[in-house]
Amino acid sequence: MEHKGRTALVTGATGGLGVAESKGLALAGANVLMLDVKGREAAEALAGELPEGAGAVRFVGCDLADPEAAQDLVRLLDAEVGGIDILVNNAAINPLKPVDGYDLAEWRKVQDVNATSAVALAQAVVPSMKKKGWGQIIQICSVTLNGGWSDFTSYVSSKGTLLALTRSLARELGQFGIRVNAVSPGAIPTALEKEVWADQLETYVKFLVDHQALKYRGSPEDIAEAILFLVSDKARFITGQNLSVDGGWWMH
Ligand SMILES: NC(=O)c1ccc[n+]([C@@H]2O[C@H](COP(=O)([O-])OP(=O)(O)OC[C@H]3O[C@@H](n4cnc5c(N)ncnc54)[C@H](O)[C@@H]3O)[C@@H](O)[C@H]2O)c1
Repeated sequence: MEHKGRTALVTGATGGLGVAESKGLALAGANVLMLDVKGREAAEALAGELPEGAGAVRFVGCDLADPEAAQDLVRLLDAEVGGIDILVNNAAINPLKPVDGYDLAEWRKVQDVNATSAVALAQAVVPSMKKKGWGQIIQICSVTLNGGWSDFTSYVSSKGTLLALTRSLARELGQFGIRVNAVSPGAIPTALEKEVWADQLETYVKFLVDHQALKYRGSPEDIAEAILFLVSDKARFITGQNLSVDGGWWMH
């Protein structure tokens, strides 16, 4: 229960990976604010299955497409809980379109939800982290950042911003006892994957496993474990890094 008495905020917390990430943090003792634009039921279901002694989880409805409003809300939450200790910027949208297939308003929305909100939320929590002399910020990047990926320009660009943010914030905030790292998931099976690939799922899975060094699929829990490691004292000398959790698809 390393994080007993601490508060974590996970964005996109009711999605495929967010629930596992929130659960992992709650099992490590943290009270978890599960911020998402939808999915109250998923947060309530998780609250119902946590064992005694785990941290509490609570749904926070918020649309990150409006980073200013999200920042105001998180400032209030930060004051209410006496300082958010762990911030996981996990929310993302990933419209699949060729670069000449969307307008700049759509581009901006992807940047707002995926990247600008991460800056806005960091601004909201960093003052209390500085006062405590302890804090953890995690950005969820993506395997797609390594090789570009066709028709994902707005998404991949937002992940590039998150990686740069990880490095620059790590440099700036290390002196205050705040560590900042990124986790880059490979292809992790979620409900969305089944929906997107539908009748081509078998071909898609074969493609993935052919590219991975490890010949089995990852799980949301693998991402949660990477986050738990990075925010723990076991990683006390690690900051500004991007940990790929992709079965050895890309090696740096
Ligand atoms: N699943 C994978 O294979 C995979 C691979 C690489 C990277 N990732 C990254 O992992 C993270 C989680 O992905 P996932 O697979 O769980 O996706 P997901 O779509 O299941 O979850 C994303 C969550 O973000 C929330 N969200 C979307 N727009 C929002 C908004 N405007 N305001 C607040 N919340 C909003 C959604 O409601 C959803 O719950 C993302 O950053 C994604 O880019 C996932």
